[in-house]
Amino acid sequence: MPKKSPRNPRRSSSKPAKTAKPANAAKRGAKAPRARRAGVWRTAANSDRHELYELAVQEVVAECDFIDKAWRAHRGRLATTIREDFCGTAKACTEWARRRPTNHAIGVDLDRSVILWGERRHRAHLPESIASRITILEANVLDVATPEVETILAMNFSYFIFKDRATLVAYFRRCFESLSKDGLLLCDAYGGSEAHSEVEEERSLDGFTYVWDQNQYNPITGDVVNHIHFRFPDGSEMKRAFTYRWRLWSLPEIQDAMREAGFAKTTVYWEGTDHKTGGGNGVFKPSTRGEACAGWIAYIVAEKGAPKPATRKGKRAGSPAKARSK
Ligand SMILES: C[S@@+](CC[C@H](N)C(=O)[O-])C[C@H]1O[C@@H](n2cnc3c(N)ncnc32)[C@H](O)[C@@H]1O
Repeated sequence: MPKKSPRNPRRSSSKPAKTAKPANAAKRGAKAPRARRAGVWRTAANSDRHELYELAVQEVVAECDFIDKAWRAHRGRLATTIREDFCGTAKACTEWARRRPTNHAIGVDLDRSVILWGERRHRAHLPESIASRITILEANVLDVATPEVETILAMNFSYFIFKDRATLVAYFRRCFESLSKDGLLLCDAYGGSEAHSEVEEERSLDGFTYVWDQNQYNPITGDVVNHIHFRFPDGSEMKRAFTYRWRLWSLPEIQDAMREAGFAKTTVYWEGTDHKTGGGNGVFKPSTRGEACAGWIAYIVAEKGAPKPATRKGKRAGSPAKARSK
């Protein structure tokens, strides 16, 4: 059975490996996390769960690259405004605002503690010219009122928290209403045969081990309980640093709900195959035919308003190939 992205769905093979080092962080002048900082090894006692989460799970540069790719492909231009739903530390908002001086970002999360952590870590020391273009709201994405935005980002499967169809559709409708008339909703999803298994997978990172624990799967309801644990070289462990009680939605269910909420078109971006390994090659392209692999991650682009008309060659202007050549 071919296997695309690693079983652990919180890391797509699309995203650059991030074992030791955060080269990006170093480039941006942030303090580079190290296995041993000032002679101290990471342990459960001296570690911060949000820092480890960001190191192990998030790739905000790749996320913002995907926003640009989707806008070029589906709208033939770049967006300026995003809303990062379920923003947590709002690292993607920061990356978006840094990226271009015309960019603006709104983050929405209902957990004040994670918002404050992100404020201290990412936004407190930003130049005013960047910080002034980021707004963070402590609110529920189901009823938040925000100015119109061009893009809504709901990444790392956070909307799987909505377990019944009516609430999922209500969330997508809220997104629809908040978007500009040509706006795009971008989110991800995971699945594959192993997504329906109760398994634990470890990944060694810079001075700690990240553990994705698919602890429970209920085939009757589709409900899952997933934990993230962090283990350290001294044998200590941060057990259940994060817990997610989700419904494992399928791609057709998600797209049906998006269309019911009013979106004109949905496109699944499926990962290509690395023919040497049989795994994913990190390149996501619009696709209507996936593979029944053991574990996959896909992106979904939901378009408000009419899709861009076809060009004379029969191809959509700004197709991903064209976007790449720009
Ligand atoms: C899996 S984390 C996502 C963090 C980050 N955006 C990422 O991509 O990794 C989920 C976040 O969603 C927030 N959250 C859960 N339900 C929410 C809701 N109804 N409205 C706003 N935020 C919510 C939680 O507080 C948590 O910070």
